[in-house]
Amino acid sequence: MKYLKQLMFLAVALAATTACSADQPVPAKKDSRYEYKTGSRGGIGKFYMGREISHVMGHRGAGWLERPERERQERTDLLINRLPISPGDKVADIGAGTGFFTLPIAKRVPEGRVYPVDIQPEMLAILEERRKSMELSNVESVLGSETSPNLPANTIDLAFIVDAYHEFSYPREMGLALVDALRPGGKLVLIEYRAEDPTVPIKRLHKMSEAQVRQEMDAIGLQWVKTDDYLPQQHVLIFEKLQTGVSID
Ligand SMILES: C[S@@+](CC[C@H](N)C(=O)[O-])C[C@H]1O[C@@H](n2cnc3c(N)ncnc32)[C@H](O)[C@@H]1O
Repeated sequence: MKYLKQLMFLAVALAATTACSADQPVPAKKDSRYEYKTGSRGGIGKFYMGREISHVMGHRGAGWLERPERERQERTDLLINRLPISPGDKVADIGAGTGFFTLPIAKRVPEGRVYPVDIQPEMLAILEERRKSMELSNVESVLGSETSPNLPANTIDLAFIVDAYHEFSYPREMGLALVDALRPGGKLVLIEYRAEDPTVPIKRLHKMSEAQVRQEMDAIGLQWVKTDDYLPQQHVLIFEKLQTGVSID
């Protein structure tokens, strides 16, 4: 009798637990490669390889990207002129925003093509207006997702990411999809404000250190080629997709 009572108690307890959990929201499955903690100001509370990911800059900030003093402050002219591209190359500008870089780069590849990729259709709409006014025919906008730039495999000669990687909410997935889109031997040029330099007047989560960028690119199998520091505020890191495949865990 004593055991029967205990058995009934367990059955009731189990039924109560099941009913209760069915009413609770089921937490989303979280990728173990990311950590989730209380976010800091400007961050999303999601961490990758020790770095907190920043909020995405909304399309209402488009004016800041196009500010007239940007070329002088960031020497964007130097950056565009020094990109390792040939006239027939296919170039992807990932996180292109308003196309501040896409459009001058399109002039550097008259026999090639530039693919500006962004997750905000509003940014791509601004870019498209600017493209039309400049009468450029070798620019093809691509609406990306949080996990992929939606580019065909093994096609891109050079991918270019300026001040955008730190806000990718799935940096590993984006990175792997980007590696897939690069042709073997293709390059990635990644530009981020220097986190090592406290005099660079940009919020902490919008900056990255060279070491952090290198460890994140190493994790997706990209080979570091060099880091250039000819810009006043940003690192220019160049990586290459190996000719032979790499195994990623
Ligand atoms: C700070 S803006 C920089 C725009 C441009 N590269 C420039 O320097 O003028 C960052 C851009 O990255 C885009 N972005 C954020 N996450 C993205 C993702 N996963 N894939 C593609 N674009 C993304 C945002 O929508 C935003 O337009």
